[in-house]
Amino acid sequence: MLTYTLLPVLLLMNLVFGAIIKPSGDNTTSPAGSWTAVAPIAIKARQEHGAVQLDDDTIYIIGGIDPETNGTFPTVTTVQRYSIEANVWTTVADLPIPLNHPNPAVVNGKIYVLGGLTIVNSSTTFWNASGACFEYDPQSNTWTTIGELPEGRWTGSAAVGVSGSTVYLAGGLANTNLTNDEEGTLSIFTSYNVATKHFAVLADMPEPRDHAGVGLVANKLYVLGGRAYGHDNTKDTVFAYDLRNNSWTTGLASMPTARGGCASGVIGTQIFTIGGEGDPDTASGVFPQNEAYNTATNTWASYAPMDIPRHGTAGVAIGNKIYIPGGGLIKGGLPTNYTSYFQLPYHGSTY
Ligand SMILES: *[C@@H]1O[C@H](CO)[C@@H](O)[C@H](O)[C@H]1NC(C)=O
Ligand SMILES: *[C@@H]1O[C@H](CO)[C@@H](O)[C@H](O)[C@H]1NC(C)=O
Ligand SMILES: *[C@@H]1O[C@H](CO)[C@@H](O)[C@H](O)[C@H]1NC(C)=O
Ligand SMILES: *[C@@H]1O[C@H](CO)[C@@H](O)[C@H](O)[C@H]1NC(C)=O
Ligand SMILES: *[C@@H]1O[C@H](CO)[C@@H](O)[C@H](O)[C@H]1NC(C)=O
Ligand SMILES: *[C@@H]1O[C@H](CO)[C@@H](O)[C@H](O)[C@H]1NC(C)=O
Ligand SMILES: *[C@@H]1O[C@H](CO)[C@@H](O)[C@H](O)[C@H]1NC(C)=O
Repeated sequence: MLTYTLLPVLLLMNLVFGAIIKPSGDNTTSPAGSWTAVAPIAIKARQEHGAVQLDDDTIYIIGGIDPETNGTFPTVTTVQRYSIEANVWTTVADLPIPLNHPNPAVVNGKIYVLGGLTIVNSSTTFWNASGACFEYDPQSNTWTTIGELPEGRWTGSAAVGVSGSTVYLAGGLANTNLTNDEEGTLSIFTSYNVATKHFAVLADMPEPRDHAGVGLVANKLYVLGGRAYGHDNTKDTVFAYDLRNNSWTTGLASMPTARGGCASGVIGTQIFTIGGEGDPDTASGVFPQNEAYNTATNTWASYAPMDIPRHGTAGVAIGNKIYIPGGGLIKGGLPTNYTSYFQLPYHGSTY
């Protein structure tokens, strides 16, 4: 009898204390990590935007496409800022031109956008790479045109990394034809030194890639998965570029799930590749997988799958969290403003 009378009390205590120890959505005790929703992007849903971290409290999303209007996806100039502490989105100065799949980076407290895809001849069915390069000063809230990517180096959806004052752009797209889904995938590799304003032509990637995962760890730029010439032609390769000797390494451990259009972010020695597009196993065509490549051990591990699977967005890693603002909910389109972060638990003093 005692057991029966105590059972509801024990269940209640478990619920109450369980909730205190493990707040719903903040499951930091799971080795697989956890997902937590934050304020959605204000005003409009977005996908194919860039996302960068400016400081410990601030994330910016840049350009992209708005929800479908009259059968087309408008490419926007919109730039929005998210404060982590306030959990609030604000709109800042527009990009000088509309860009989707931009190549953004942060160096010394300023945002750089080195090309992306843009609208040509008012076409709603064809996006061409733009070489336009801009600098954003968050103090004055202004965008300044700083030049153009060199001839033959225009790209959108490149894998972007930063080391010191140098921004690296690997691969990407020369153009996208939305009518026949033909995409001009590139293997070009270019750097821009913000301090010297110098562009450098570097060794081509071993194969063309766009929409790839990316991470720069210990003097190496990793390009993970991605695709070549279309949504469904997803890749599982890992290429590593050694910044010290201008050479690419191939033959590293393959991604467990070949994916393009995934968000990525670095925590410790691991590069996370999250979500993506072209999944033959889901009705939405969007991947839920969250897989991390450990650069120290050349191995992959799986983590808590995305809470709401998305593609066509970017990850912003801050400490042991990776924020993922918006993205597409189905293959091709359906932008959302849903925003959440993945959190990896600490194991003692490391991840
Ligand atoms: C926490 O993670 C564990 C293990 O992955 C899972 O079984 C549990 O449902 C999660 N709880 C919450 C609140 O997400
Ligand atoms: C989220 O996006 C939808 C669709 O674009 C929009 O109607 C809604 O108002 C947005 N939510 C917020 C909080 O701005
Ligand atoms: C959509 O098309 C209709 C009819 O052509 C037009 O009146 C309307 O302005 C269009 N809306 C937008 C947002 O382009
Ligand atoms: C844009 O228009 C110009 C002039 O008519 C033409 O030469 C060019 O091919 C067009 N570009 C695209 C991408 O349609
Ligand atoms: C389209 O992009 C290519 C580089 O990929 C560039 O040479 C060309 O000028 C661009 N076309 C337009 C109309 O911007
Ligand atoms: C895009 O594809 C369609 C269908 O194949 C084709 O008619 C059109 O010319 C292509 N557009 C460009 C700019 O190449
Ligand atoms: C570049 O350096 C790495 C070590 O960091 C080495 O493994 C690789 O063989 C070097 N490549 C060339 C072409 O020297």
